[in-house]
Amino acid sequence: METNSYQNILSIDIGGSNVKATILNKDGAITMDYQRVETPKPTTPERLLQTIQGLTKNFPVFDCISAGFPGYVKKGVVITAPNLDTSLWHNVDLRKLLSDTFGKPAKVVNDADMQGLGVVNGKGFEIVVTLGTGFGTALLMDGYLLPHLEIAHHPITKNKDYDQYIGEKAMLEIGDKRWNKRIKKVIGILQTVFNYDHLYIGGGNAKKIDFDLDSNITIVSNKDGIKGGARLWRMEEHPQVRPSYTAAQ
Ligand code: BGC
Repeated sequence: METNSYQNILSIDIGGSNVKATILNKDGAITMDYQRVETPKPTTPERLLQTIQGLTKNFPVFDCISAGFPGYVKKGVVITAPNLDTSLWHNVDLRKLLSDTFGKPAKVVNDADMQGLGVVNGKGFEIVVTLGTGFGTALLMDGYLLPHLEIAHHPITKNKDYDQYIGEKAMLEIGDKRWNKRIKKVIGILQTVFNYDHLYIGGGNAKKIDFDLDSNITIVSNKDGIKGGARLWRMEEHPQVRPSYTAAQ
């Protein structure tokens, strides 16, 4: 659904380890080389904004901004930032900060949700997971975002949530072989719990998967995910549950 006439979108993927940015045209095509820089530590809102300004200072002109943030985001306001530091981010209106800093309208959603908008086919129930510092998840029905769930923080063992079980730190601790076994188990759980039509696996560590995947599972790149920044401006403001999803099938 077209709601605006913005031609060029600054799309920013804020990750626990790197911040990536590019300019998209309104159809989601990447118009310049994708740039990345390390996420500043500690990641205060001020330092993150400075980092984004530095990263984008030689970028061509853009009309609006989309950002994916690694935590729970409500109407552009950050609620949690598990891999950055929730105490620095709770209730920070990142949408307003970006908009004020750059003098352009901005939208901010969960990072996996933004990636999800960039990679799905728009057919049926699709799940997008990202394997990086944390475990990002996005659920979409016919290409529309369903309410964001922080599956990353659902317990999978007696004392571990998904982030602790298959996140970057766990992968480095247990090694690729054991990590792959865990990923296999998690995919099995997603299959049983959600019965998705298609599962997309993105994030920097997706390339470490060393086993064969079912035909309804696809590995996707961060570059594809960042394209979600364009769809964010073509959709209504809020993620929505489509009527067809709740109606009897
Ligand atoms: C956060 C999610 C985020 C994911 C990937 C998790 O720790 O809770 O909101 O999408 O990391 O960055």
